[in-house]
Amino acid sequence: MDDRPIGVFDSGFGGLTVARALIDLLPHEQLVYVGDTGRYPYGPRSAAEIRSFSQEIAHHLVADEGVKMVVVACNTAASFALAGLQARHTVPIVGVIEPGLRAAARATRNGRVGVIGTVGTIASGAYQRAAAELGLTAEVHCAACPGFVEFVERGETGSDQVHVLAERLLAPLSDVQVDTLLLGCTHYPFLARTIADVMGRDVVLVSSADETAFDVRQILEATGLGARGGAGREHRFLSSGDIGWFVEMGGRLLGPELASAEPIGLNGTSQPVEEPVASPRSN
Ligand code: DGL
Repeated sequence: MDDRPIGVFDSGFGGLTVARALIDLLPHEQLVYVGDTGRYPYGPRSAAEIRSFSQEIAHHLVADEGVKMVVVACNTAASFALAGLQARHTVPIVGVIEPGLRAAARATRNGRVGVIGTVGTIASGAYQRAAAELGLTAEVHCAACPGFVEFVERGETGSDQVHVLAERLLAPLSDVQVDTLLLGCTHYPFLARTIADVMGRDVVLVSSADETAFDVRQILEATGLGARGGAGREHRFLSSGDIGWFVEMGGRLLGPELASAEPIGLNGTSQPVEEPVASPRSN
């Protein structure tokens, strides 16, 4: 038994979808969540920046917070940095790409799976690589959705504007008749109603959150790292951005567990980035 917390990180609020699944599936575990809201979005950033931010946060979680495991609850960070983090640290480091893809492959009936993600995730080819490594027979059609993350971070999860954007970005996936759509960005489950409305009720939406939580449980069981639990083990939430907004919006998105947050100073390059106006990619 090991009562050390589990570290979870994302560029902002998106990883809260994974945190929710972890809290529900593993009630004895304590989480330390880092939302890098001071430097989001990661999607349009360079691979080098994403690697450097991810290393900085993982180092903080392992060295300063003493976590027993790190969940990279961000597809963009996992696309570029997962292997490097796994090579650097001795604690288990878990990503969200393979778990999500496995769940989508199980759900499809016509063998056509859509994957949506940030510009960085889709351009990295991480989903195609993971599909090949898993030996999936399903066709994987990918589309980048620039702008979705910003709507979630602003708390605009059901606006007309996000609906119009979704219609434009998801059209290529409707055209190739995917019957399963993997939300390959941990922010996107917060837009699930809009996305489902645009794709139609016959398309099954899959999030990586639950499958990732099952992977974490399996690793805890296999390694004997599961917590005994007990009273007074509240989850902790750290944000590199506006703490008041993190608590207000994060509490709305996650639930009552997020009632307070602490600042975290992250020092890597933090030039503001503009989300490029890209047309959806499908391949
Ligand atoms: N939640 C992150 C992901 O899963 C969003 C990245 C971003 O900040 O653009 O990719």
